[in-house]
This record gives sequence, structure tokens and C-alpha cells, in this order.
Amino acid sequence: MATVEQQPNPLIEGLERFPVHPTTLVIFGGTGDLAHRKLLPAVYNLAHEGALPERFNLIAVSRSDIPHDDYRQMARESIVKHSRRKPDEQVLDKLLARVRYVPGTFDDDSIYERLDGELREFDEEAGIPFNRVFYLSTAPEFFPVIVGKLGEHGLDQHEGSEVRVVIEKPFGTRRHEALELNRQVLSVLDESQVFRIDHYLGKETVQNMLAFRFANGMFEPIWNRNYIDYVQITAAEDLGIGTRAGYYDKSGALRDLVQNHMLQLLTLLCMEPPVTFSADDVRDEKVKVLHAIKPPEATVRAQYAAGMAEGKMVPAYREEEGVPDDSPTETYAALRLEVDNWRWEGVPIYLRTGKRLARKVTEIAVTLKPVPHLAFEAEGSIGVKPNVLVMAVQPNEGVTISLGAKIPGTRMRIRPVNMEFLYGTAFLSQSPEAYERLLMDAMRGDATLFTRDDEVAEQWRIIDPILERWGSEKDGALPTYLAGSGGPVEAAQLLLDGHAWRTI
Ligand code: BG6
Repeated sequence: MATVEQQPNPLIEGLERFPVHPTTLVIFGGTGDLAHRKLLPAVYNLAHEGALPERFNLIAVSRSDIPHDDYRQMARESIVKHSRRKPDEQVLDKLLARVRYVPGTFDDDSIYERLDGELREFDEEAGIPFNRVFYLSTAPEFFPVIVGKLGEHGLDQHEGSEVRVVIEKPFGTRRHEALELNRQVLSVLDESQVFRIDHYLGKETVQNMLAFRFANGMFEPIWNRNYIDYVQITAAEDLGIGTRAGYYDKSGALRDLVQNHMLQLLTLLCMEPPVTFSADDVRDEKVKVLHAIKPPEATVRAQYAAGMAEGKMVPAYREEEGVPDDSPTETYAALRLEVDNWRWEGVPIYLRTGKRLARKVTEIAVTLKPVPHLAFEAEGSIGVKPNVLVMAVQPNEGVTISLGAKIPGTRMRIRPVNMEFLYGTAFLSQSPEAYERLLMDAMRGDATLFTRDDEVAEQWRIIDPILERWGSEKDGALPTYLAGSGGPVEAAQLLLDGHAWRTI
């Protein structure tokens, strides 16, 4: 049987080849935006690095009624356009030769029959049962439909191999919906087969938070309420909502980024050291952090008004195509919360995210308490600032620690300086995309970087009351901020004494 050629590249650090059982990946929503921009290029890059299972097939399922070859051509174009490296024609040809397409609507039984046929053909051709990974990259209303149909058609199990289902976000839009979706999914599948994706967990720099905390002895002693003054997690974006009004206007910043990505960053920052890095040991510790968070009272939401961004005037959110002109949806959200446990009691944690802010930056900044006594002359002390430890997720991936240093000269004067570790210079390789790592993990059956059912439920428990409160507020209560700015002035109201937002 033809296999996708393996091309190990010694310069690439991260994605060495694990022995993975032969796998057929099925992408529901194979003509969708995520498949084109992220999933297909990720599969290509795994093939390029020789990281895919040695025997691998891909089946895309979607509504458009097109033959296999047209889909292959579309996939080729997407990979050429969005891959992080220029595709090698030979690797690409070999990969596309293993791609098939099944057209139809997701509630139509005949597509599952056809899918079953295609899957069997691949198995028979190879003479072994392939593992099956079903990736649900569709509108969320289809998640329970597809899982239900997989069950009805006996595709939820496969003798002699594993069946896994990857579910994209959003996993519900409120807690009761997430619980119901979990119930439906788990009535067909076992939790060990379910991979709820949060792509932030696949980012190298997010995983580095764990390495940073648990592979270095020097941070643990200060990682608590005795030394840490406050924490700030920022996920700012410069872009607007693009063509996603249909989704975004129903979601808003709180659901889109805070409920999932930002709370996940928070759990990694605050969790206790796990006993092992097995999926359940890590997730047991993460869920305890969520469990210790009360739904916050201190919140600010806002929406962007027209302003200068990307060197030109850009429209207000309500003027974006597809957005109702009285939309109450927030494009900015900020909260102050606490993790009420022994380690973190009393440490304010600020979260903020927004579209159309001054720049794209995702970072976690941990500010330590000021030194207890300054022995320097008043004049020399001016530059003494509390140490800040910044984990930059993007851009300029790395970790920075600010320190007070003596300015050269006869006088004892202090100035903050930075000690920096940058991924770009420390490792001479390009980081894999989050989706590469996560697809690989789903194929290997490693759920460490995926969200467990109890985590999702806890995340919604924290967010639901805020949604309820915001939903009952009058429209007049929704502040605005200029597109291209650092966000609404109202965000300052969340800060406790002596704390400051970092500049976006
Ligand atoms: C997605 C959100 O989950 O994350 C988008 O739906 C957002 O609105 C995106 O733009 C941000 O991801 P990244 O990897 O670009 O930070």
C-alpha cells in the first residue's frame, strides 16, 4: 500500500515521529473555513515532518456536491495558501492521493453509510482495521447530530482499533447547554474517546507555562499569595470580526475567548504540580483551580466604535457587515477574579480580551510584591519597580523577567531592565501550529491538552452569571472604545490599589 513519505527534518525540534497506529481522519465540515485555514495545512505539515502515522487516510465530509478530485484540488490550494512552510510537491501529491470526499448533509443517514463503505475499503486495502478519528469542525448544532448518527450506524466503535471524536468549540453557549451536549455525547461515546479542543492548549508557549513552572525549582517557592501581588492575563487582537458576524454576534468576547482559552491559561498558571503528566492527573489539578473560582462581580464589557486601525479608518462594530445596528454584543471583556484556595487567596487575577485593540498580544503577566524596605536614597529609588514575570504566548514568544539594576555611574540609581528568553533565538526552529500538535495527540489518544467534561462545566459555571447580569442590563450600560485603541477607560475601574493595566 502506498504511504505518505516520511521526511524527518533534524532542524525541527518538536514533532518527532511517534509510532501511531494506522489512522483514518474524517473531517466533518471539510470545506469549511477551519479545515481550509488550519486543519488541512496542519495535516500537510505533519506529513512533511514524517510525524503522521505511517499509514494515513483522510476523508472530508461536507455539503458541497463535488467529486473526490475537486476536493483534492481545493485541499491543495488551501495547503499552498495557508501552510507555514512552502509545500513540497512530492509530499503533497502523496498525501492528497490518500484523500477522499463524501458529500451530504450531516443528518442524512446515507452519508454515514457511504462513510462506512469508504472506511472499510481503506481497512480492506491495508488488511488491518485503522483507528478512526472523527473531527467535528461544523456549526455546533451538528455536534450532537453527528455523534448520534455515528452511534446509530455503529461507527462509534471499531473492532481491533480505536475510535476518537474531536469536538470543536463552542461547547455549548451556557452551562445547561454544555451539560446537555455532554450528556448526548457521552450517551454514545466513552469520555476517553472524546477530545474537546481548545487550540490555545496546543500552542508551544502555553505548554511552556508547565515547563517553566514545573521544570525549574526557583519559581515554586514564590508561586503563591506571599510573593505574588497580582496576575494579568491579556488576549488582545488587532483585527475586527472579519466575515464572522453570524457567529460572533451571538457569541461575544466573553464566550469566544474568556470562557475557554483564557480560563485555560489561568488553570495552567494556578494549578498544583500534578503527580504525573498523564491526561487525568493534569486535568484533575486544572479542574480544582476552576472549582475554586467564584463567578466574578467585577466585570467590564464594551464594544468598539469606529477608529483608526491597520492605517485606515475602520467601522464601528455595529456597522460591520452582518451585525445588527443595535447589537448589544460585547467585543471587549475584562474581569477581576480570585482563586479561593490556600495558594492564591487574596491575589487579584485580571483577565481582558478584545477585538480591534491596538495590537495582537497574548500574555500572562505575574507581578510580584514590592520589596519590604528600600535602603537606597530617595532619589535612587525612583526606578525600583516590583518584578514582573511575563509569559508571552504571542507574538515574541518567550518569557521576560523585569529586574531592578544599577545604572552605571557613581550614584546608586536603579532602573528596571529585562532578562529575556525568546523562542525565536533559543531554538532555531519554527514552532508547530497548535492544530498540528493537537491533531497528533488526538491520533495518539493523548487527551492531556484537551478539555474534560467537568472542566467545561466548571468554566460555564463561572461565566453563566456574568452573561445573565449583562443580558439584563440596559443598552446604555455598554461602553465603547475606539477601534485601534487600548480598550475602554472603564476597564480601569477593575484595578485595585496600585495595580495597572499593561499597555496593549
Ligand atoms: C478563536 C476565536 O477561538 O481564537 C477567535 O473564535 C479568535 O475569535 C481566535 O480570533 C484567536 O486565536 P489565536 O490563536 O489567533 O490567538
